Amino acid sequence: MRFTVAIDGPAAAGKGTISKGVAAHFGLAHLDTGLLYRVVGRRMLDGEQPVDAARALMPEDLEREDLRSADVAQAASKVAVIAEVRAALVDFQRAFARRSGGAVLDGRDIGTVICPEAEVKLFVTASAEVRAERRYLELSARGGDVDRAQVLADVRERDARDMDRSEAPLKPAEDAVLLDTSDLSIESALAAAIAAVEAKMPAKG
Ligand code: DC
Repeated sequence: MRFTVAIDGPAAAGKGTISKGVAAHFGLAHLDTGLLYRVVGRRMLDGEQPVDAARALMPEDLEREDLRSADVAQAASKVAVIAEVRAALVDFQRAFARRSGGAVLDGRDIGTVICPEAEVKLFVTASAEVRAERRYLELSARGGDVDRAQVLADVRERDARDMDRSEAPLKPAEDAVLLDTSDLSIESALAAAIAAVEAKMPAKG
């Protein structure tokens, strides 16, 4: 079965949790495509040229444990504006999307650029304030000194860069199902996503 679920949306909207939940529910493989840009961002912080880093990317790089910090997130958003970086990452994502057994990919441009032919497209969003609060709680839970106002400023800065870039800007595909999670529990958001996928699932038999 070839079956692709494309899940896009801004930072901290709940994409990650929803994507993992959808993949687990339907037994699909899952790729968090933000990790690709995070690896390249991490390497840029370490002094490498982003385009070279993107061309040299290996699947095992996605397992690195130093990809979740706020500085790597910002670096990822910066390398993501570079057309050659994006181009170097396309084939890996498309091959993953069409693997047999089906796949869920989450990111910013999956439904618009990477997999415009995806069987299901979801655009998961929430207000910047709600997303910043979630990110604040997540970062504080990991320990460390986190400033609420700074987290909101970071979310806004990354939104602006991701939406205003000329290459594959963050926006819903025309045929995407919109899911605003601002007032939803994670359970309700996941249930809504599962229902949207279920509706497009090929009948078994
Ligand atoms: O989803 P994330 O927060 O891990 O993504 C980090 C950055 O990577 C994000 O700010 C923009 C970029 N990105 C992208 O441009 N396209 C994607 N498909 C995924 C992420």
